[in-house]
Amino acid sequence: MSEQFDVVIIGGGPAGYVAAIRSAQLGFKTACVEQRGALGGTCLNEGCIPSKALLHDSEVFEHISHEGREHGIIASGLKADYKAMQTRKKGVVENLTKGIEGLFKKNKVTYVIGHGIVMGKGEVAVKKEGGTPESIKAKHIIIATGSEVAKLPGVEVDGKRILTSREALELTEVPGSLVVIGAGVIGLELGSVFRRLGAQVTVVEFMDHITPGQDAEVSRQFQKILEKQGMQFKLASKVTGAKSSPKNVELTVEAKESGKTETLKADYVLVAVGRKAHTDKLGLTESGVAVDERGRIIVDDHFRTNVEGIYAIGDVIAGPMLAHKAEEDGVACVESIAGQKAHVDYNLVPGVIYTHPEVASVGKTEEKLKAEGVQYKVGKFPFLANSRARAMGQTDGFVKIIADANSDEVLGVHIIGPQAGTMIMEAALAMEFKASAEDIARTCHSHPDLHEAIKEAALAVAGRAIHI
Ligand code: FAD
Ligand code: NAI
Repeated sequence: MSEQFDVVIIGGGPAGYVAAIRSAQLGFKTACVEQRGALGGTCLNEGCIPSKALLHDSEVFEHISHEGREHGIIASGLKADYKAMQTRKKGVVENLTKGIEGLFKKNKVTYVIGHGIVMGKGEVAVKKEGGTPESIKAKHIIIATGSEVAKLPGVEVDGKRILTSREALELTEVPGSLVVIGAGVIGLELGSVFRRLGAQVTVVEFMDHITPGQDAEVSRQFQKILEKQGMQFKLASKVTGAKSSPKNVELTVEAKESGKTETLKADYVLVAVGRKAHTDKLGLTESGVAVDERGRIIVDDHFRTNVEGIYAIGDVIAGPMLAHKAEEDGVACVESIAGQKAHVDYNLVPGVIYTHPEVASVGKTEEKLKAEGVQYKVGKFPFLANSRARAMGQTDGFVKIIADANSDEVLGVHIIGPQAGTMIMEAALAMEFKASAEDIARTCHSHPDLHEAIKEAALAVAGRAIHI
């Protein structure tokens, strides 16, 4: 192919495919190069979507088996058909990835299957299996190659007993026992899936608390709830070695402070200690594109790298490694290329952990504000005092709103509770419009609903919550 494009994007994940569609909408002749043979990237194929399918099914199962009786639902012979859950998950993924192909056709985006290599300004080479590389010329090149699993020294992933999230999502059986390394988002979501389905789950975490970076109060409450559900934690501990056999894995775990070691045995181990920028065989060094100390491509506010005409978006650059952030990057990048004033505020990217209860946050934590020396007020409201949560029988958790002590502007909202992920969007929208806590408190919220807890927390900022 020696066709000339306006924009060529390498990577068809949430950053790349969304950028491609927006680019075509803006009238650019656009191509998107993807090597995995399916669009949607990590998110659709081996991340957000398959994990949420399994989280949903396992949550329904747990809810009926543990709380059904209390709700007047008596099911006899209830069992989880894990194979059927896997089949449904596969179908959901296939449908969605095909849907993106449809969107490409509709928007006249050229979909090129192959491995893209940046050849310098204006040229991308595409390598197809067994074939000779073809060249694509484009005025603008956008790198959207995403991220890959971070490795843990001493624990070699073999894909059989020692797994990353990719293999864990494809497991053909529910483990009897599972050790998760890393109490972050992946560890707690996938750990929850397998615990609900019957696995004995132990999470080993390097820090002395789970979900580092999360509001500390939320994190403490979250750990207590997960422990009550049966998940076990070994905090302030590091895994120093792993030996796998055809049947199980033996891990050496060292307590950070005392240096005391112990051996943990499990059927499977999930390594979930973070992800890193994916820039393998991309030609960055040869084309002179600069990366930071963590291998992420360095860009300015308009997603421009140091090489003219080359841009980068999504997980491959700094910022939260989230699909919705990647999509925003994609839109803003091509709109900037089109001369529009585009901007993404990373402080207002909401983060959600899709466990039960869910954990969701937007803006700054108390810890961050303290470190920045900002004066703030806090309003909190527990779901125990929310009538809808009581009606649902899901009263664990609370809403916490942090507002500027002087201006009352909302600076951060942190929720642990039922449907926190859906509710956080009210806070994100309010913060996008620079709302004060009083603005939220004076907004009429429908009753009986979970989001009344947000209104009450906003009232609590001024010490005038009604229902507590
Ligand atoms: P990716 O989605 O990684 O896409 C990059 C694409 O580029 C890939 O398809 C890759 O094959 C392709 N590629 C790489 N190099 C080349 C090359 N040289 N040539 C051609 N193609 C190439 N985020 C959320 O917001 N919510 C969630 O619930 C959530 N759940 C997750 C669960 C798991 C288990 C994991 C692993 C991640 C999850 N994430 C979630 C994170 C989310 O998947 C990523 O933030 C998101 O996919 C990043 O999008 P991206 O387009 O930057 O990169
Ligand atoms: P993470 O950064 O969320 O958590 C990694 C955890 O591993 C941290 O708690 C860290 O302290 C710990 N850790 C690091 N090294 C360790 C070691 N040697 N021993 C023990 N613990 C160690 O990373 P995770 O869970 O792998 O997820 C990767 C990315 O995927 C995240 O950035 C997240 O944003 C994204 N993701 C988002 C989801 C969502 O939005 N619901 C779901 C799943 C993933």
